[in-house]
Amino acid sequence: MAVIKLYGRERELGLLRRLREPFLAVIYGRRRIGKTSLVLKFLEGRPHLYFFVNPKKPPHLLLEEYGEALRRAAELPGYVRFRTWDEFFEALFSLRGHVVAFDEFQWFMEVAPEVPYMLQRFWDVKAEKPSIIVTGSVVGLVKRLVAEAGSPLFGRADLVMELGELEPSAVFRWLRDLGIRGEETFRFYLLFGGVPYYYRLVQQWGVRTVEEAVRLLVAGEGGPLRHEVEFVLAESLGREYKTHLAILDAVARGATKLDQIASHVGIKTTSLPPYLRDLTDLLNVLTRFKARRTYYEFRDRFHAFWFRAVYRHRDVTPEDRLREVAAAELEDFYPWAFEAAVRELLPRLYPVRKVTKEVVFLR
Ligand SMILES: Nc1ncnc2c1ncn2[C@@H]1O[C@H](COP(=O)(O)OP(=O)(O)OP(=O)(O)O)[C@@H](O)[C@H]1O
Ligand SMILES: [Mg+2]
Repeated sequence: MAVIKLYGRERELGLLRRLREPFLAVIYGRRRIGKTSLVLKFLEGRPHLYFFVNPKKPPHLLLEEYGEALRRAAELPGYVRFRTWDEFFEALFSLRGHVVAFDEFQWFMEVAPEVPYMLQRFWDVKAEKPSIIVTGSVVGLVKRLVAEAGSPLFGRADLVMELGELEPSAVFRWLRDLGIRGEETFRFYLLFGGVPYYYRLVQQWGVRTVEEAVRLLVAGEGGPLRHEVEFVLAESLGREYKTHLAILDAVARGATKLDQIASHVGIKTTSLPPYLRDLTDLLNVLTRFKARRTYYEFRDRFHAFWFRAVYRHRDVTPEDRLREVAAAELEDFYPWAFEAAVRELLPRLYPVRKVTKEVVFLR
């Protein structure tokens, strides 16, 4: 396997490396934030098994594929098959000195809901066990799996870490390595924040300016971010995401209070809370402020831009004009994004650092 080059993440890797085996670690964070890369980096050079919990595969196929990988790792004879998850975990737990990663663990709740509870049972009763890392991107679901009394991983994890965005310094280093300098680096940061996937695309597409990023990646025909927001919402929420889209569009247009959002979307104010809960607690796209009244704002600057630049224009703009129109949105976006970024960065300049947000719990 090629050695993975990561920018930043020294602290997160340090936390993982401090754990004494066998450990159970939970890493969660929004889509594209770098969970899989962090885990693979940690696994580099250690005996390990990596399992992606693909919600689109039928459970028997997952079991077959996992079983095949386990059989090889455990050096079991070729005829060995695991017919049930119980048999699979029995063999997995006799595997010593390995780290086992389940990526996007929350999908077990859909694919094979008995599995998290089975993992809990094996973890509780077996004295000898492999180390286990589970990751998840539907933040609310992962919290439910870990943090609620009676949930399968409650009180068992040695480390629970919310993976946040890359530090600005890591982003700036990355951009410098790409030959991007000066004010342009900060403009990139205003648009893409600390989400590594977006910078990976900048790198792959050889993009040099934010405007070019918007024209090629965000608004371009076939651009990899053209459908990004819908794609992530659809994957996380299933098909029922049209109302969520409409709510986010309303917020992007400046509707921040409940009644304003409801009137934009065209539903009753009393019907909004479940959708808003999905967008705040489950997916972390919006954030809720409580002043005299409750209001909502984008937490994620790229999402905010996507709605202004792509979602709002694409059905009423000819394809050959869309890049132009989207790039023109940058002018209005920067002042808002600058304020939002300052609001995010300012607390870090205070001399007394709070316990870092990402580390929820370390035993
Ligand atoms: N710290 C980093 N330094 C450099 N590149 C990174 C870093 N973290 C992630 N990447 C790159 O960013 C992209 C997204 O990362 P990754 O797939 O690990 O995120 P994820 O949280 O698992 O996303 P998803 O929700 O899509 O599964 C990948 O192409 C990866 O190579
Ligand atoms: Mg991943």
